[in-house]
Amino acid sequence: MFQALPGKGVPGEQILDELRELRRADLPTHGGRLFAYVYDPALDGLDDLARAAHAISAHVNGLDPTAFPSLLAMENALVGAAVKLLRGGAEAVGSVTNGGTESLILAVKAARDSRPELSGPRLVIPSTGHAAFAKAAHYLRVALDVVPVGDDLRADPAAMAAAITPDTVLVAASAPSYAHGVVDPIPELAAVAAERGVRFHVDACFGGWVLPYLRRLGAGLPEFDFAVPGVTSISVDLHKYAYAPKGVSVLLHRDEALRLPQYFAYAGWPGYTMINPVISSTRSGGPIAAAVATLRAIGDAGYLELAERTREAVAILAAAVTATDGVRLFAPPETTVVCLTADNDTATVNTAGPVDLFVLADELAARGWHTQPQMAFGDLPATIHLTVTAAVRATADEFAAGLADAVAAARARGPVLLPEALVAAAGALTPEMVTPELVAGLAEGLGLGGGDFTQMAAVNSLLDVTPPALREALLTGFLSLLQRPATEPAAAAGDGHGVG
Ligand SMILES: Cc1ncc(COP(=O)(O)O)c(C=O)c1O
Repeated sequence: MFQALPGKGVPGEQILDELRELRRADLPTHGGRLFAYVYDPALDGLDDLARAAHAISAHVNGLDPTAFPSLLAMENALVGAAVKLLRGGAEAVGSVTNGGTESLILAVKAARDSRPELSGPRLVIPSTGHAAFAKAAHYLRVALDVVPVGDDLRADPAAMAAAITPDTVLVAASAPSYAHGVVDPIPELAAVAAERGVRFHVDACFGGWVLPYLRRLGAGLPEFDFAVPGVTSISVDLHKYAYAPKGVSVLLHRDEALRLPQYFAYAGWPGYTMINPVISSTRSGGPIAAAVATLRAIGDAGYLELAERTREAVAILAAAVTATDGVRLFAPPETTVVCLTADNDTATVNTAGPVDLFVLADELAARGWHTQPQMAFGDLPATIHLTVTAAVRATADEFAAGLADAVAAARARGPVLLPEALVAAAGALTPEMVTPELVAGLAEGLGLGGGDFTQMAAVNSLLDVTPPALREALLTGFLSLLQRPATEPAAAAGDGHGVG
């Protein structure tokens, strides 16, 4: 491991080599085989362009748009593009944030601060709403009312309506949900909220940049944007299906009055008067310039083509799941997600044995298909999530064989059998009992001590049977265990040839 602060500077080429070497441990961000975290359009030259644009504006500070009008111009251009795509009117306004979570926190803040008279503001979301809403509620001390979704995995307008109280400052839903990729009935939900005079936020962080194109291609998806009366704000992440590098999302409001309580202003100190539309104060222009470059390089026609490729890839992957004995689609593949679960009800189980979904995820990874296991939740079984992007079109035809092979291997391995003592010990644990020492011991016992995360079936199986609050405590402890300062070695030979 290198020192971040060597005694003397290190030559640039060496530094870049070290960074490239570090990156080799990462999952592949390109190549259409990683189905979470990254969004790859597989367009030649786009990465280089975005990198160059990022470099031009990396040191520009969003703190003060009068000092750096370039950033203001770029942000206004991005917001303008999002307003057009999501059919905002002439009154629509927005802000550029660093990601979906920040956009959602700010949507909740704007709603909360529009009702200063309330001492106990509340937020209503469906149970499939993104975890970032819970984070927003937690950070902002807004009570969270989570409403179970229907059997179709969509928010239930009647149940959501029943959850609205005089203290509700915001109702929100997804277009689409991350876990399953299904679109909530936005028109019905917006009507319910409007009837009660409550703001309604559409979380289109995930799919907001691709749904309009899928609709143009004829997908039978409901309206979800500002064309729907009652929608007061929408979030859309440019670092997802707009394919911009990480660090850019847009939060739109139907009009300026709705946005105003989102701002933070403070003149009560001797320094500059701080006026922040978003959470960060100092902000790099780099990601914003990279997003502008990405949007301009791809263009409207390009996004339509990318959506077409994505749609084809989804259909191919979904067909592969349907054709493979032992797994089945868990949610309709109506957007850009393929969500599957184990199907152990078939006759084959008697001869071939059941499929353990977490073993399957490991077996898929061993074959180069990196998916995202999702734990059982309430009545919902464990599932495997695949976020599909345009790059997957090139690999999609190979997936069926890989899946069949992985299912056969998972069957041959059989389900994870956790040691009874471990299950009993976990069953007796409460979140309060989780200490750093306990987490370190567990991590060692489960083979995670050495930093190899390729065999996760046992860990996932254990977490799957762990109540959510305990799972949170264990994973918090584990992340904290990972996040330790690197010990600085003695100055290495070769140090001392760098800048300065
Ligand atoms: C629907 C939805 N909302 C919000 C977020 C949070 O976005 P970010 O990870 O950029 O903070 C995500 C991320 O996947 C998402 O899918």
